[in-house]
This record gives sequence, structure tokens and C-alpha cells, in this order.
Amino acid sequence: MDSQQPVRVLVAGATGTLGRALIPVLSNCGREVVALVRPASQRRIESLSGDIKDLVTAEVTEPDIPASVFEGVHTVISSIGITRQRDGLTYDEVDFGGNLNLLRAAERSGVRRFLYVSVVGADKDVSVPGFRAKRRFEEALRDSALEWQIVRPSGFFTDITDFLKMARRGTVHLFGNGRSRISPIHPTDLAEAIVDLLEVKPRTIVSIGGPADFTWDEIAELCCRVARVRCRIRHWPESLLRVALAITRVLSRPTYGTLSFLVHVMTSDTTAPHYGSRGLEEFLKAQQEAV
Ligand SMILES: NC(=O)c1ccc[n+]([C@@H]2O[C@H](COP(=O)([O-])OP(=O)(O)OC[C@H]3O[C@@H](n4cnc5c(N)ncnc54)[C@H](OP(=O)(O)O)[C@@H]3O)[C@@H](O)[C@H]2O)c1
Repeated sequence: MDSQQPVRVLVAGATGTLGRALIPVLSNCGREVVALVRPASQRRIESLSGDIKDLVTAEVTEPDIPASVFEGVHTVISSIGITRQRDGLTYDEVDFGGNLNLLRAAERSGVRRFLYVSVVGADKDVSVPGFRAKRRFEEALRDSALEWQIVRPSGFFTDITDFLKMARRGTVHLFGNGRSRISPIHPTDLAEAIVDLLEVKPRTIVSIGGPADFTWDEIAELCCRVARVRCRIRHWPESLLRVALAITRVLSRPTYGTLSFLVHVMTSDTTAPHYGSRGLEEFLKAQQEAV
């Protein structure tokens, strides 16, 4: 590659929370950003066009992603995954299958590096579909001849906003006893950590959390404080959650997938080494003021 040419990076999952945070950070660091979006989501990325060199479309859940998507691409960063159920697909179809289609197409097209955004604890042998699908893709990526990297983040600040909304309504619902710990991170801090990682040697797996650990009770209390309301924290016992999981498993696979993911995250420790400097309280206060 011509050393004067900026490195061309394809962001897959560009319409998502992390994808949107990655685009300006990559662009500010001199990377040429190509955003990969599915055709139906193209409209949602137009506001970021200033930081995007090219916009390409493909359905990653279909095999045979066209080679033109990867034209000149040195690095693929994939943050594709199901967080909120929108189209009834399974984690196996998206987090595993979609990313595998992307990996195979990248291999055929001469891409050099593939960085995958997984989740903290994906290596643990849990039967939760979302974690299992990510673990399966991690394994496929580690078997690839590409220069691979795996990032396993803790929860994003943006998802904690849901608890702030509950606080405003008077009750914060928590799964489990509230004592499990998490290291939430601002998406921009995560994006900056990821872009820094592109400079280091490949074949690395890094867990990434924000600057502080919290129990879920501490997060709920913080949300009540920021919302400036006297609110109740309600703990849903694990015995009841097991019943809910058994029922949804039979009646609705997508609901079971989302519920099992949330229950796992809130009833086990998902802390990770600390990165970044943006604080959760400041983030939540800004969200509260914007209401
Ligand atoms: N949010 C968290 O707290 C958290 C914590 C740890 C790990 N993670 C993982 O980090 C990754 C990024 O998270 P995020 O919060 O940025 O997620 P997000 O906002 O939901 O974005 C997910 C991205 O994946 C794409 N996607 C979903 N289903 C797809 C499909 N069927 N075909 C093609 N693309 C599809 C979405 O595209 P559309 O816009 O077209 O739907 C979107 O661009 C995910 O894998 C997530 O599991 C998230």
C-alpha cells in the first residue's frame, strides 16, 4: 500500500450506537471510513456523511456479500449484533451467521485485518443464545488467516439510559439481587480504545470497561438521584426469572433471546479493565437535562 494513502476502514454496524461513535473517531485519526449499512437502514446514517468517505450497502445475513463492498479496505471493524429485537432474527443468524458471512467475504476480497466487537464474558461457557453466538463467531475469527482482533466491552452508558427512564417513572426494575457488578463505558471512550488497538499487534483479545465499576443497585440509585425523584428499586428474584425464561423459551424465541441476555448480564459480574475518562453520572445528568 502507498504509505501516503489513508488506511481505509469498513465499519459494519455503522448505524448502531458504537458504529456511530466509531465513525468520527476513525475519521479524526486520519482513517478513510467506509460505512456498511443494510439497504433499509441507509437513511439513518446520512447525518454522519461528513465523516464518511463512502457508504456501501449489503445484507450480511445473506451469503455472497459483493466484493465491491471491500474495495481498497484494509481493516473491517464489525459491531453488528442484536441488542434490541427489531426483525425477529436470531443471534445465531446475525451475531454468528452475519459476521461469518462478512468474514468470509473479507477473506476472499483481500482484507488484511478484522476487528470484532463481542461482549465481556463471551468466552465463558454460558448457554445464553447471545453469548453463545458471539463465542462461536470469536472461534471462527480466531481460526481465520486474517489479522484478527477481538474486543469484549462491558455495557454502554447509552443502555443505562433505560434505567434513568424507569427512575423518572418511579420504579427501577432490576433482575436479581442488584449486587452483580458492571463497568459501563461511554461509546466514544470505547471507540477511542478500539481505534488505539488498531495500532497494536493483531491476534489479541481485550476486555474493555469504563473508568469505574458499579453494582446494579448503585446504578439504580444513581439514576434515581439524577432523575431527582424518590423512586423504588424493585428486584426480580432469580427463581421468578427462571420461570419467565422457561415460558418465553417455548412461546417466543426472540423474547427469550433478549430476556436471557439481560438476565445473564444483570445476575453475573461483567466488569472489565478500565479505559476512558467519561463518567456515568455526567452522562446521565446530560441525558436528564436534555429531557
Ligand atoms: N450496548 C451494549 O451495552 C453492549 C455491551 C457489550 C457488547 N455490545 C455488543 O456490541 C455490538 C454493538 O452494540 P451497539 O450497542 O452499538 O448495538 P446497536 O446500536 O443495536 O447496533 C447494532 C448494529 O448491528 C446492526 N444489525 C442488527 N441486526 C442486523 C441484521 N440483521 N443485519 C445487519 N445488521 C444488523 C444494526 O443495523 P440496523 O441499524 O440496520 O438495525 C446496527 O448497525 C453488539 O454486538 C452488541 O451485542 C453491546
